[in-house]
Amino acid sequence: MTASPLEAVRTYEVRTYGCQMNVHDSERLSGMLEQAGYLPVAEGDNPDVLVFNTCAVRENADNKLYGNLSHLVPVKARHPGMQIAVGGCLAQKDQAEILRRAPNVDVVFGTHNLGSLPVLLERARIEHEAQVEIRDSLVDFPSVLPAKREAAYAAWVSVSVGCNNSCTYCIVPSLRGGERDRRPGDILAEVGMLVQQGVLEITLLGQNVNAYGVEFGDRQAFSRLLRACGTVEGLERVRFTSPHPHDFTDDVIAAMAETDNVMPQLHMPLQSGSDAILRAMRRSYRQDRYLGLLDKVRAAIPDAAITTDIIVGFPGETEEDFEQTMHVVREARFAGAYTFIYSPRPGTPAATMPDQVPYDVKHARYRRLVDVANAIVWEENTARIGSTVEVLVALGEGRKDAARDRVSGRGPDNRLVHVAIDPSHPLPRPGDVVTAEITQAAPYHLIADRVLHVRRTRAGDASEVPAAPATGSGVSLGMPAIRVGSA
Ligand code: SAH
Ligand code: SF4
Ligand code: F3S
Repeated sequence: MTASPLEAVRTYEVRTYGCQMNVHDSERLSGMLEQAGYLPVAEGDNPDVLVFNTCAVRENADNKLYGNLSHLVPVKARHPGMQIAVGGCLAQKDQAEILRRAPNVDVVFGTHNLGSLPVLLERARIEHEAQVEIRDSLVDFPSVLPAKREAAYAAWVSVSVGCNNSCTYCIVPSLRGGERDRRPGDILAEVGMLVQQGVLEITLLGQNVNAYGVEFGDRQAFSRLLRACGTVEGLERVRFTSPHPHDFTDDVIAAMAETDNVMPQLHMPLQSGSDAILRAMRRSYRQDRYLGLLDKVRAAIPDAAITTDIIVGFPGETEEDFEQTMHVVREARFAGAYTFIYSPRPGTPAATMPDQVPYDVKHARYRRLVDVANAIVWEENTARIGSTVEVLVALGEGRKDAARDRVSGRGPDNRLVHVAIDPSHPLPRPGDVVTAEITQAAPYHLIADRVLHVRRTRAGDASEVPAAPATGSGVSLGMPAIRVGSA
C-alpha cells in the first residue's frame, strides 16, 4: 500500500530489547508496518510511530522502559500526531498498567498478538483513545507475518515459541505461554525460501529447542530437523538457540557432528554449577551431567565453541554453591559467558524464597565470576592464533576498524573476527566469506590480518542493491549475534 499524494507518508522506528525472540518479532513488526505503508524513519529524525518491543526477564529492563517513556513526553508534545506503541514481554506482563505509569502511550499489545499492531495504531488514531490488546494465547506464529530484514545473508527461523519448563527464577513462560511447535514442513519451507533469496546462515530459534516436537509427539524432531537442514542446497551455516541441558540427547550431538553445515558452536545455559541451587531452580540436570555433556560434545565436535548463561546470587546461594559455579566455569572453558545477577521477578517461585542474597554479595560474586570467565575466554581466543578461519562478513556487527581497515564477521564457531581488507583481494561486502589466518586475540574478538581468499557470494551481491520491500517470507537480516547480556 502506498500513501495517497494528499496524505503525508508516516514513518516508524522499532526499538528492540531482550532476546533473539524479540529481534525475530521486531522483524515482523517492521514488516507489517511497511506493508501498511509506513516508511523507516531517517536516522536522527523523529518517527511518527515509535514501537518499543520490550523485555521483562530482569527488573532493570522494566525500569529502563518507564524511564525511556517519560523522556518522550516532551518529544511527543513537540510532534503532534506521534504515536507510541509498547509491545513484547513487559507489555504482556504489565498490560494496562503501562498506560497508568506512562499516559503518553497510544497502543499496548502483547507477545501473542503482534499482528494486531497496525490496526491498533489506526484505531487509536481515529478514536483518539489508547488501545490495549493482550491475548492469553498465541494468535499466529510470528513467522507467518511479513518480515523486514536488514541484510541478505542471515536469518532467524523460529521452530517453537513459549516454554513448558518452570525454572523457578524465570518469568518467560508466563509471558510467552507454553511451548507451541511449528511443523517441520513449515520450517523447512521457510528455510528453503530464505536460501533461494540468498541467505547463507540460519539460526533456529526456540526457548528450549531440544523440546521441539513435544506438541506432535516426536522426541527426535530436533535432530531430524538439523539433519534436514543439512540437505538444503546453498545453506552454508546452521545454528540454533537455546538448548536445555536436560533435553540435550545423543541424537542431537550426533546430528550436529554429522551434518556439515551445522556449525561447531553451542550455547548451553548452565545457570548454576551447584546441585543444590540447580534443584532449587528446578533445572533437572546436575553438575556432573552438565560437564559430561560438554565432554560428549567436544569428543564429537573437537573445535566446538561453547557459550553459556549463568545466574549469580539465586536465593539461598552460599559461598560454597558459588564456588561450584566457579569450578564448572574453570572446567568448561567457555568461549563466552553471559552472566546475570539474580533479579526477583513477580509471580515466580524464587521471588518469595527465603534467604534472598543481599545485593552487595551478589554483586561481589558477579565480579569474581566475570573476571574468571573473561580470562578463560581470552585464553581460548589466544589459542586460535595461527589457525585459519572463514569469516562471514557482517553488516554493522562489531566495528569496522578504520585505523587498520578491517571488516567484521563471525567464524564458524561464532567468534567475532575483525579481518583485514587486503587490496590484493576483492573488497569483501556483507555476506561475502573471507578466509584468513588469525593473527591476534583480544578478550572479545579475534583479528585475522593474513587474508588468504575472498569468496564473493550471492548474499554479498544482494547487499549491494537497496533492501527489497517487506515480503511474506522476508528477505535477509542482520547477523544472528549470540546473546548480548549483562547484569
Ligand atoms: N530459554 C532460555 C533463556 C531465556 S532467558 C534458556 O533457558 O536458555 C535468558 C537468560 O536470562 C537465562 O538463561 C538466565 O540466565 C537469565 N535469567 C532469566 N531469569 C532471570 C532472573 N530472574 N534473574 C537473572 N537472570 C535471569
Ligand atoms: Fe525460562 Fe527455564 Fe524456560 Fe529458559 S527453560 S525460558 S530459563 S523457564
Ligand atoms: Fe526478555 Fe521476553 Fe526474551 S522477557 S529475554 S524478550 S522472551
